Amino acid sequence: QVTVPPDAPLETLQQVMTDTGWGQVPVVENGEIIGIVTRTDLLKILAPKQAASGQMNLADKLEASLPPARLALLQIVAEAAQRQQAALYVVGGFVRDLLLERPSLDYDLVVEGDAIALGRALVQQYGGRTTTHRRFGTAKWQIGSIRSKLAEQLSPIGGPPLDESNFPETLDLVSARREFYTHPTALPTVERGSIKLDLHRRDFTINTLAMRLDGHYYGDLHDHWGGLADLQAGLVRVLHSLSFVDDPTRILRAVRFEQRFGYQIEPRTLELLENALSLLDRVSGDRIRHELNHMLQESAWEAMFARMSDLGVFEAIHPALPWDQAAKERMRTGLNARIPPLWAGRPAHQLEHPVQPAAVYLSWLIVLDAGEAVSAANRLRLPGWMSDQIQSAIAIRSMQDEIARMSPSQVVAKFDSQPTLSLVVCDALSNDPNFKQQVKAYFERWQSIQPGTSGYDLRARDIPPGPHYKRVLDALRAAWLDGKISTTEEETALLEDLLDELPADE
Ligand code: CTP
Repeated sequence: QVTVPPDAPLETLQQVMTDTGWGQVPVVENGEIIGIVTRTDLLKILAPKQAASGQMNLADKLEASLPPARLALLQIVAEAAQRQQAALYVVGGFVRDLLLERPSLDYDLVVEGDAIALGRALVQQYGGRTTTHRRFGTAKWQIGSIRSKLAEQLSPIGGPPLDESNFPETLDLVSARREFYTHPTALPTVERGSIKLDLHRRDFTINTLAMRLDGHYYGDLHDHWGGLADLQAGLVRVLHSLSFVDDPTRILRAVRFEQRFGYQIEPRTLELLENALSLLDRVSGDRIRHELNHMLQESAWEAMFARMSDLGVFEAIHPALPWDQAAKERMRTGLNARIPPLWAGRPAHQLEHPVQPAAVYLSWLIVLDAGEAVSAANRLRLPGWMSDQIQSAIAIRSMQDEIARMSPSQVVAKFDSQPTLSLVVCDALSNDPNFKQQVKAYFERWQSIQPGTSGYDLRARDIPPGPHYKRVLDALRAAWLDGKISTTEEETALLEDLLDELPADE
C-alpha cells in the first residue's frame, strides 16, 4: 500500500493515484495513519480553478446522481485519459438529464484522442478485455468478469465497500470523430475530430452538451452548440438544415423528446421536419419499430403518438396506421393487458417473445382489414409470428358475436388453431360478457378436456389409420365438452356407435 506524508504536494498525490490506480491514499505521519485523501477530495480541490473561468461545473451534480461504483469507474477512466493527455467527456443524454435533474445511470463517453489506446491502458491496469472497432475508433471495455476485483480495488479505505453490481457489464469508449455522408443514408465516412465537431453530428442541441472529466477540468460543462439555452427555453432544435436528411428517424426522436420533456420543436426545425417526412420512406421497418418501441416505453407515449399523427408522421410511414381516440384506448388496453399464467400455457414458445409490445401492436392494428394489416405489419417489419397473431386477432374480433353464441365444442374447434396472444388481446378489448366468458372457459377448462380414448386405442382395435381417427376422437371430445357424455362408460358406448357408423372402407 502506497502512503503519503501530510505535507505531500497535490501533484504528488495526483501522481500516486494515477500510477497506482488507487482511489484513496492513506496519509501517514510517524508511522500512523492520520487520514485518507480520496480521489474525490483531490478532484474537488482541483476543479474550482476551472470553474472560475465562468464555465458551469457539474461535479457536485454528478457525484450526487451516480452510485459510488459508477462514479469511481468514471474517475479511473478520467485518470487513464489524463495520462494519455486526452480529454475525456461524458456527453449527450446523460448530461442533459443531469441538468434537468432527471439523472440516468448510463453515460456515453467520448475521448478527444484514441479510445482504443485508452481501452488498452485500462485493461493493462485493471484487467478485463476490450473489443475494438478500428473504423470508428471505438473500444468496448468488458468488465463483467472483473467487477469484484474492481470493487475491492476502488472501495474507500475504512468506508463502505462499493457495490459491485453497480458496475456495468461493459463500458463504451468512443474517439471524438467527424462523420460525413457522401450521399443520404449511406454509411458515413469517418475521421478523427474534436469534441466540438463530434457533437455537431448529433440530432438536437439539447443532446450536444458535454461534461469534461479529466484532471483540472473535472465537471466542466462544454456547451458548443447552444444546448444549455435550448434546454432552458424548452426547445428541440436541430444543429443544421440537413439533420433530418442525414437521418430521418430523427423525426420520431424530435417528437419523443418534445413530448417527454413538455418542450416545443423549434419553428425552423418543425419546418425542416415537415419537409423531410417523405424521406421516412427510405427508413427500414426495423429502425422505425425501434423508435416506436422506445416511445411505447415512455409515460408520455400517447402524447407522442398524437403529435406524430398531427404532423403526418404515421401517414408517411404507412397510410393505414390508425390514430384516434379508439386506437389510443385499445393500445392502452394492450399495454396493460395482463396475461394470466394459466392462459399463457399454449403454445409456450410464443411467450418467450416480448409479449407486451406484441399485445400493443395487435391492439393497434386489429381494426384494419386483413390486407392492410399485412401491409402495415410488413412496413414495420413485425416478426412473422406477430403478423400471424394480428391476422388471427382480426378474424376472431370480426366473429365475436358468433363466438359468443357457440357451443363449447365449437369454441374449442375455433380457438385451438389460434395463437394464444391474439385470444388474450381480443378478450382484453372486448366489452361483450358472453364472448369474454367463452374465452375464459376455453382457457381455464375446455382447452384441456380430452377423451379417454386415444389413437393408440383405435390402433389396438385394428382400425386402419386415416383421417377418420381425428374425426372419431374429435367427436368424442366434442361430446365431453358439450356435456353429452360425462362418464367413461358413456364414452365407450359413443365410441362403439361412431365406429359402427364408419364406412366399410375406413
Ligand atoms: N443520436 C443522433 N441521431 C440518432 C440517434 C442518436 O444524433 N438518430 C445521438 C443523440 O445526440 C444522442 C446520442 O446519439 O444523444 C445517443 O443516443 P440515444 O442513446 O438514443 O440518446 P439519449 O439522448 O441518451 O436518449 P434517451 O434519453 O432516450 O436514452
